[in-house]
Amino acid sequence: MRVCVIGTGYVGLVTGACLAHIGHDVICVDNNEEKVKLMKSGQSPIFEPGLSEIMQSAIQTQKIHFTSDLAAGVSHGEILFIAVGTPPLPTGESDTRYVEAVARGIGENLNGGYKVIVNKSTVPIGSGDWVRMLVLDGIVERQKTLVPAGGVPSDEKLSEFAAEFDVVSNPEFLREGSAVHDTFNPDRIVLGGNSQRAVALMEQLYDPIVQRKYAEDQSLPPVPILATDLSSAEMIKYAANAFLATKISFINEVANICDRVGADVTQVAKGIGLDSRIGNKFLQAGIGWGGSCFPKDVSALIHTADDYGYEAQLLKSAVSVNERQRLIALEKLQQVLKILKGKTVGLLGLTFKPDTDDLRDAPALILIEQLNRLGAKVKAYDPIISQTGMRHGLSGVLVETDAERLADGCDALVLVTEWQQFSTLDYLKMAKLMAHPVIIDGRNFLDPETLIRAGFQYVGVGRQRVRS
Ligand code: UDX
Repeated sequence: MRVCVIGTGYVGLVTGACLAHIGHDVICVDNNEEKVKLMKSGQSPIFEPGLSEIMQSAIQTQKIHFTSDLAAGVSHGEILFIAVGTPPLPTGESDTRYVEAVARGIGENLNGGYKVIVNKSTVPIGSGDWVRMLVLDGIVERQKTLVPAGGVPSDEKLSEFAAEFDVVSNPEFLREGSAVHDTFNPDRIVLGGNSQRAVALMEQLYDPIVQRKYAEDQSLPPVPILATDLSSAEMIKYAANAFLATKISFINEVANICDRVGADVTQVAKGIGLDSRIGNKFLQAGIGWGGSCFPKDVSALIHTADDYGYEAQLLKSAVSVNERQRLIALEKLQQVLKILKGKTVGLLGLTFKPDTDDLRDAPALILIEQLNRLGAKVKAYDPIISQTGMRHGLSGVLVETDAERLADGCDALVLVTEWQQFSTLDYLKMAKLMAHPVIIDGRNFLDPETLIRAGFQYVGVGRQRVRS
């Protein structure tokens, strides 16, 4: 099928590349010329395992093309994905100006033939109908340019140019760091809208994925498709993220109580996770959730509820538990080192989670800010950030090139991101290089006994006690 994906951020580029990989003819549109040039050469502007490989093979088979020309993309696609960003505004609402511009742009460039316009971005509830209205506005704008100056298009003229289209909400549930894997192995596909015709085309588009042709385990039954109305599909995305974020805040709260009563949250998580009603996922206590989705989506849902006169108390609590949790490493550093002024703290990891180069809303940022405020010197080593030298959003931290340089002279280390390679560092050597071998394991990722044997004073989150 002919597909156009507008916006080549995480969602857009992964969607475009994966759809090309399963045999569709894809054009990806982005208004950033530099980025388009980079992608044409087969390079991915983001770090995402497996993405460059499938991009390059799709370029070779000519299944994917990149352009900054929206008109060309719209004219190519029978299915048009809107996958532009909806970043948070200071108020917590989503900034939907990019969605607005693209929806109008689609309308201005629609040519004959039925098209399905798909909202892939996480858009505020009610956006499906709004996008429909904007596309219609765009169509009218274009028609105005087609009548003599000062003239008004006649009804006949309007209908002559009016294109047939439907809007579908198709939220994504990809995790950064495993986005390609998640696209080929989804738990479900949600299609919101009231047009049977649009839903049937979307089912056709996803059929190879639904039939598990590209799945890790091809023997699984087909992926369930859930067809809903527009606003329920939009709500599913918010509710899923809000639930997961709340689940993490819940276990973090339990961890804080564990710390006080002398229990071990990792054991508690195992014990409750074996209850199939609870499930064992997203029960890892630590220094809180971050990234481009959870903080933005939970705030936006709270805001939407507010707009409709409802105070989302549980979600507000999930956010405030998380804000406090981001400073838990600081609290623990103070417990062990007492005064932080003049001390050097080394951070293992900076990104909000492993296998990504994303620093958006990363817990490391607030930790650096607060350590600086208290007069500590902050150094960091992150497998991706140290390698790429990418420093966007980072200040007040010295980025080292490896973990041993990081350890050198530090009064304490804080494990911020659970990068796999941190499980096999030479902690014996690192302990010897440090002024005080203290480690705050902000993700309960390391084996306490190994660290203690290496000479460290080990402090986890909700893991009972300071061990040494
Ligand atoms: C999330 C959703 O999982 C995904 O479905 C949605 O499409 C986008 O948002 P992502 O932000 O990539 O994906 O990361 P995720 O793996 O969900 O982690 C989010 C945050 O929660 C990270 O900061 C992570 O460190 C934290 N986390 C996750 C925990 O603290 N404990 C856990 O048990 C799981």
